[in-house]
Amino acid sequence: MAETMTSAQVRESFIKFFESKGHLFVRSSPVVPHDDPTLMFTNAGMNQFKAIFLGDNPKGWKRVCNSQKCLRVSGKHNDLDVVGRDNYHHTFFEMLGNWSFGDYYKKEAIAWAWELLTEVWKLPKERLFATVYEDDDEAWQIWKDVSGLPDDRIMRFGAHSNFWEMGDTGPCGPCSEIHYDRGDIATQAETFKDPIKGVNGENDRYIEIWNNVFMQYERLSDGSLVPLKAKNVDTGMGFERICAILQGKTSNYDTDVFTPIISKVAELSGVPYNDGVEGTPHRVIADHLRALSFAIADGALPSNEGRGYVLRRILRRASRFARLLGQKEAFIYKLVQVLADTMGDAFPEIRERKDFVANVIKSEEESFIRTLDAGLERFETISADLKKGEKIPGDKVFLLYDTYGFPPDLTGILAEEKGLLIDEEGYEKCMQEQKDRARANMKKGINTMGSEGWTEYAVGSTQFVGYEADTAKVKVLRFREDKGILSIVLDTTPFYAEMGGQVGDKGLLQAEGLDIAIFDTIRVNDTIVHRGKVTKGEANKDTMSVEFVAKVDMRLRDDIRANHSATHLLQAALRQVLGSHVAQQGSRVEPGFLRFDFSHFQAMTKEEIQQVEDIVNDKIRATLPVNTDVMDVDAAKASGAMALFGEKYGEEVRV
Ligand code: ALA
Repeated sequence: MAETMTSAQVRESFIKFFESKGHLFVRSSPVVPHDDPTLMFTNAGMNQFKAIFLGDNPKGWKRVCNSQKCLRVSGKHNDLDVVGRDNYHHTFFEMLGNWSFGDYYKKEAIAWAWELLTEVWKLPKERLFATVYEDDDEAWQIWKDVSGLPDDRIMRFGAHSNFWEMGDTGPCGPCSEIHYDRGDIATQAETFKDPIKGVNGENDRYIEIWNNVFMQYERLSDGSLVPLKAKNVDTGMGFERICAILQGKTSNYDTDVFTPIISKVAELSGVPYNDGVEGTPHRVIADHLRALSFAIADGALPSNEGRGYVLRRILRRASRFARLLGQKEAFIYKLVQVLADTMGDAFPEIRERKDFVANVIKSEEESFIRTLDAGLERFETISADLKKGEKIPGDKVFLLYDTYGFPPDLTGILAEEKGLLIDEEGYEKCMQEQKDRARANMKKGINTMGSEGWTEYAVGSTQFVGYEADTAKVKVLRFREDKGILSIVLDTTPFYAEMGGQVGDKGLLQAEGLDIAIFDTIRVNDTIVHRGKVTKGEANKDTMSVEFVAKVDMRLRDDIRANHSATHLLQAALRQVLGSHVAQQGSRVEPGFLRFDFSHFQAMTKEEIQQVEDIVNDKIRATLPVNTDVMDVDAAKASGAMALFGEKYGEEVRV
């Protein structure tokens, strides 16, 4: 083998090698793929090139290479529960890759892979195995010619191992893997001494180090395969694994990718590390620290759903393992600095955002720790009544989740340690019931459109003119009265209905001898409903059939409008003072006040509040002009408008 390289040198020599073969270095894309909603986290180097494989290559790239930050938290080998219990599975990892977009194909890919491994890195040939897709005679023959490996070490496998697909749909193709025999690993069962059983078997003597995918198809949603315009190459090598091999380590965690972090864990906790079971907490923490830090640096935040929920689970698992090391206070965040030191050269974003990352982790740890003790106590009581092999009932699993913030998988881990199981179905049922209850509560109190009691003049929908006018001549489409309260649907209205937390307009409906004070305007299934009380005259089938003048109370409307604008000023100021992670979570806009909910990881300080107030007040005093334009969504985004996550917009938006 070559002289021992540091991990930084391994990364560099991979990239240098492919640069010498005409490849362009392209930076790793964020581990949070902001532009691909179908993907929770970046899970392969090719993600950022997906469109190129599908035929859209505006920059005309032919050959590129990099080391990509990846996160995998589900799948056979990446169940969160497994990570840290062995020496080579991770949530966060780097994938070294080289790509050909319609340029070179199998021959060069295989030849270069072999050259890098055996000539540059000088791995012993007798430890290497190649696999090809079962009917890929071409790849088999190239391997034979290039490597001279004995026939039985160029092995054929089916689609399960040797046909790689990005997901249910997307680019895919047969692949060729390279496996490495770590023969001196002492822990193997007898059968695994036989490589025929070992390669692609469930053991860690033979490990896959590099996958070369020959991307030539697109999988469509109906399951069919269509050939891509061009034949491409997509490769992925496990960086942490190759570092372990090149550094002569049996565990990825013993390479310099991890040792600085693990040493810090040992130093801060006073619990020494070993690579057996006692070292599981160190490994879990080191792995999860990397996943959390890079995801947060790339813009994700722990929360209750989606990506954020995955991060929360990772953090809670790490936090619980920190507890096993005797840490009762927030702990993980103290390790961000050493991560920034070890990886900041390759990925500067982690160095730049380390303080923010540490803050987020710390506050999330603190809030979890507050419930951890109470939850653990509760768990003990619940499990005390159960015998080994029994299931913790679903409602109890739900209680632990709902009241103590224990995600079910964490309860699962705790249960496993006591030889118990959890009733997942029962838990799901409780979860669904809670959702249904929440939905029912939301509906309560709102005047639904139920068909009873309406006096109807005409069928039709309402034209909203409130952006242009504050008064309009209108006719009633239908109305009904319930305990003195009128619900009225008009053919035309300048009244703005409650939406997105902004209260509806108030005002007056007037006809000859009849005044109706409108005290609220609501939206029921897209229909604008005015709620009012008669203040003069009488409302009945005849008197309501005439033309009315609808008049919005502009004093209130102006106040609402000002407060609405103020939420935008406030959001901009918060982002300026606290950082661009601040995102609107909800709001309430009324004439007399506004409330703005936003995401941030800790309470604001007095100074921060003052700064935000000053910025907002300055902008208000500047009496800046407010212009309205209607444009399409892309033009709006290009103009710098901020779209709100989770809001649905039509093709055209008002900016
Ligand atoms: N995209 C291929 C993989 O992830 C290289 O294995």
